[in-house]
Amino acid sequence: MVAMRPIIIAANWKMNSTPADAGTLAATIAAATNAADVVRVICPPYVCLAPVREALAATGVAVGAQNVHDKAAGAYTGEISAAMLAGLADWCIVGHSERRRDQCETDELIGRKLARCLESGLRPIWCVGEQLEEREAGRAEAVVRAQVARALSASGLGGGEGAASIVIAYEPVWAIGTGRTARGADAATMAEAIRGALQESGWAHDAAERVPVLYGGSVTAASIAEFLAEPAIDGALVGGASLKPDEMAGIVARAAATAAARRAAAR
Ligand code: 13P
Repeated sequence: MVAMRPIIIAANWKMNSTPADAGTLAATIAAATNAADVVRVICPPYVCLAPVREALAATGVAVGAQNVHDKAAGAYTGEISAAMLAGLADWCIVGHSERRRDQCETDELIGRKLARCLESGLRPIWCVGEQLEEREAGRAEAVVRAQVARALSASGLGGGEGAASIVIAYEPVWAIGTGRTARGADAATMAEAIRGALQESGWAHDAAERVPVLYGGSVTAASIAEFLAEPAIDGALVGGASLKPDEMAGIVARAAATAAARRAAAR
């Protein structure tokens, strides 16, 4: 039997907060979301990692970065390597669609970033997702499967290496920051397709089934329930609402209820 997957709520603060205010916001969110059965992660901007880590030290909330470079070190002005994040972050978002769009990140580059994360003991939150035209053309699943296959091929993780560490976030691009969400059932179908794509890339069935798949895209306290009602979905990567302690309280409370229900059902 495949082990139960954890429920994870990750906050992507994007380019918001400053070193002066990030620690207070993180501590407020931690206090508002105290739930033992939910893995909570806050991903602030790089310059806020240290104050946020300090503020979260005794809370059980983990800290993540929002990006990492695909090389280990070298002449890359302004960039941050995985090794530099040691002691600052335990998680790292990789391949966010805003970086695919604005920094032209490719699946191959993203695959190399996954490898750098795993080498340095960072747990990657690997983002995939289709554009609106691709969904409307009926190609959403093919697009996301291809994203998974290309990145894995470039990462050298085709044998399931990192399966215990990797988390995948399905973020349909048209749902990000738009107030529009996918349907829970569509997100669940995509989560299964993603696990299928991992197997097509050479992962064993059990390794693929162990990977948590989160939904991201305009998640709020009001919309989270539809996603967590799907057994294939294991939590959320939250953007705008993750800066609001009340919203995070509602999201994590629902996640805690889901974790308890899944645990009871697995007995
Ligand atoms: P929003 O929740 O603001 O739509 O952002 C989602 C996202 O991009 C999380 O990484």
